[in-house]
Amino acid sequence: MNAAIKRRAFLAASALLAASTRFPAFAASKVAASEEHERRARGLIAQMSLAEKLGQMTQLAGGRQKALNSRIDDAALDRVRQGRVGSYLHVAGAEPLARLQRVAVEESRLGIPLLFAMDVVHGYRTIMPVPLGMAASFDPELARRAARVAAVEASVSGLHWTFAPMIDIARDARWGRVVEGAGEDPYLGSRMAEAQILGFQTDDLANKDVLLACAKHFGAYGAADGGRDYDRADISNETLHEVYLPPFQAAIAAGSGSFMTAFNELNGVPTTGNADLVRSLLRDQWGYQGLVVSDWNAILELVAHGAASDPVEAAALALRAGVDMDMTSETYADHLEKALAADQTLLPLVDEAVSRILHAKAGLGLFDDPFRFGEAEREKLVLGSQEHRAVAREAATRSIVLLRNEGKFLPLRSDARIALIGALADDASSTIGSWRARGQMDESITLRAALESRTVTYAPGVSPRDPDTSGIAAAVEAARNADVVLLVMGEDFDHSGEARSRSDIGLPGPQKELVDAIRATGKPIVAILMNGRPLALEEVLDGIPAVLETWFLGNESGPAIADVLFGEVSPAGRLPMGMPRRIGQVPQYYAHPPTGRPANPDLSKDSARYHDADIGPLFPFGHGLSYAEFRYSDLSVVPQGKGGSLAWKIAATVTNTSARDAEEVVQLYIRAPLAGLARPVKELRGFARLAIPAGDARRVTFTLDPEHFAVWRGGWQILPGSVEIMVGASSEDIRLHGRLENPEARAVGPGEIAGAARLTTVTVA
Ligand code: BGC
Repeated sequence: MNAAIKRRAFLAASALLAASTRFPAFAASKVAASEEHERRARGLIAQMSLAEKLGQMTQLAGGRQKALNSRIDDAALDRVRQGRVGSYLHVAGAEPLARLQRVAVEESRLGIPLLFAMDVVHGYRTIMPVPLGMAASFDPELARRAARVAAVEASVSGLHWTFAPMIDIARDARWGRVVEGAGEDPYLGSRMAEAQILGFQTDDLANKDVLLACAKHFGAYGAADGGRDYDRADISNETLHEVYLPPFQAAIAAGSGSFMTAFNELNGVPTTGNADLVRSLLRDQWGYQGLVVSDWNAILELVAHGAASDPVEAAALALRAGVDMDMTSETYADHLEKALAADQTLLPLVDEAVSRILHAKAGLGLFDDPFRFGEAEREKLVLGSQEHRAVAREAATRSIVLLRNEGKFLPLRSDARIALIGALADDASSTIGSWRARGQMDESITLRAALESRTVTYAPGVSPRDPDTSGIAAAVEAARNADVVLLVMGEDFDHSGEARSRSDIGLPGPQKELVDAIRATGKPIVAILMNGRPLALEEVLDGIPAVLETWFLGNESGPAIADVLFGEVSPAGRLPMGMPRRIGQVPQYYAHPPTGRPANPDLSKDSARYHDADIGPLFPFGHGLSYAEFRYSDLSVVPQGKGGSLAWKIAATVTNTSARDAEEVVQLYIRAPLAGLARPVKELRGFARLAIPAGDARRVTFTLDPEHFAVWRGGWQILPGSVEIMVGASSEDIRLHGRLENPEARAVGPGEIAGAARLTTVTVA
C-alpha cells in the first residue's frame, strides 16, 4: 500500500468510527405482530388440521452440513405437499430452493411457504474471521458489516434464516464452542450480539437481502461444567442475570427474529423444557415476541436428560416451556398428538406456536412473495465478490492481536530473510473455521501464499494432528539460514467448535517439540498463533520476543497477517477472552470479585492464588499492543441531570505520541462496591476503537447512567454508592482513575435494560 492509499484508508476508518459510536438505538422486535400478519395467521390456523399445525412446528434437515440439499428426495417432497413440514435446514442454492418452495406454495393444501435455514455464522461464501476473532476487533460496526455481507450472499442463495449470532458468554477455554462467541465479557458480548443482528436483519426484515437472525443458545450454554460441551450449568441467579443473559437482552432490543434454546440444563432443568426460563422470563417478563426453535434433537433429548420419561412427555414439556419449533427430532410431529389427547390445555399453546412461526414467515414477506429470496443470476455475481472480499480483508486485519513485542521486534524489515515454519501456515482449510457454510478453502489465501513474493523458506516441521516429527530437521535447517523465524502454531479448525472440548489446551501434537528445536537455534522468533480458543502457552512462548494472535481469519487470512507483520497496518485487536498461563487456571475471568484475601505475590501470605503459577492470565482480557504509543490524560467525570435522568459524562484524552497513524481501543471499566456485596474488581462498560493520526489526540466521552451499574438481587436494583471509574488500554493496563457518587436507590423497571446489556453512548472529538 502506498502512503496516499494508506492515509485514505485510515481516514475512512476514522469516519467509520464516528458512525459506529453513534450506533443507532435499536427498535423493538421487527417481527412484532402487525394487524395484517395477525389476521392472516388466524385465518390459516382456523383452516389447519392438527397434522398441518404440527407440520409447521417441524424443522427437518434437508441435507447435511457437508452435503446440502442431499435429503430432498421424493419422500421429502411428498411430505411438503402434505403440509407436514414448516422449515428445512442444511439446504441452499437459489434454484433448488425455488423448486422446493414451489412445491410448498403450489402443491400443498394451504400453500404456506417454507423457511430455509442454515448456520451462516461468519460468512456464507466469503468467509470472515471466526466470531471469537471478530470480537477481538472490538469493532461492532465491522461485525455488522461482516454479517451484512453474509446476509446478502445467503439470501441471494435462497436462505431466509441463519442460526447466528451465537452469543453465549464463555469463561472456560476448554469449551470448544468459545470459538463461536464473543468471549468472556457480557458488555462486549452484548455489543457484538446487537451488531450482528442488525447486520443480518437490517432495521426492517422487509428490506432486500436480509436474513432472520437467531440468538443462541439461550440461556447459559456457555457455563457448562468443566467446559464439557452439553454439560450442566450450575450457576447463581446473580451470575445468570449479570453475566450470561445480558447478550440475550441486547439481542431482543436489536430485534432478533428468533431465539434458540440451549442443549444443556440450567440449575437442574434442561433449557428446552424450562418454562421458568423461556415462557416466564423470555416471553412474559422480557416480552419477547419472536420465534423460539429448539437446538438439534434437543426436544427428544429431554428423555436422555431424565426430565421426560418418553417422547410424549418430552413434547409436552418443550411446548409448555415455550419452544415453537422442533429442530429435527420430529417429537412434536410424532408425539404431540398423544400428549394433546391426554391434556387439552396444551391445544392453545400449539396455536400460539404456529402463530409465531407464521408471523416469522410473514415478517420476511414470504406470504406476499414466497420467492423474494434467491436470485440465481445475482447469486453468480454476488457470492465472493471483490466488494465482499474487501470487507473480509478489513475484518481479518482488524481482528489480529499483537500480544507481545519486546524491543519493538515487529514490524519486520521488508528485506528480512524469513523461515516460515509450521503446517498451519499453509492450512487453507483451517483459515475458514468450522462453520464454513459454502466457503471454499481454495478461495482462501494462506500465510504461506501471501508471503510467496518475499524471501521466504517454508518448512512445515510438524502438524497439530500428526505425531510424525521427521520434518523438524528441515525446519531447523531453514531457521538457521534465516534472519527471523515466523513460527506458526496452535490448533487446526477442528480442535474447537461443537463437541470439541479439550482437557489440555496446550499445543496439540508434537508442536512443542518443534518450538523447542527452533528456539535452540537461537534465531529470533515471531510466534503466530492460530486457534479457536485461548491456549495455555506460558512455557511455549517463554523467551519468544513477538507473539501475534491470529485466530482463524477467513479467506483473507494470509494477506491480513502479512500486512501486520510488515507494518502496512498497526495492529489494534484486543483479547475478548484472557489467555491463561496454564490449563489448571481455568475457568478464569477478569471480572471476578476480589475475595477476602486477594491474590498476593508473596507466597508466605495465604491468598487466593495457585502456589505453582504466577497470578492472573498470561495475557488479560482487553490486552493488545500497537506499533504506536498512546498517552491517556485529563480524565473528567461530570454529573448531568437529576433524579430519574441522572447521568455522568466520563471523558479522557488519548494522544498518539508516535510517528505513525494507528488505532487504539480505549476501554472504560467500573467497580461498584456496595454495602454488603462483593462486586467484581472491574466490569467493562464502554469501549471505542479510535483511529488517531500520528501526533494527534482524540477526546472520547462515555455517558453512563445509574442503570449501567445496577446489580441483580432477585431483580435489577440501583444501589447508592461510590463507583470507581477506570479508563485504560486493557483490563490490566488502567491509565486513569476517577470516581463518581451515585445517590439513587431504586428498582429498575421491567422493560428497562440494565447492567452489561445496556449500551454506553460514546462520542469522539
Ligand atoms: C448446534 C447449533 C446449530 C444446529 C444446526 C446444533 O448442533 O448446537 O448451534 O445451529 O446444530 O446446525
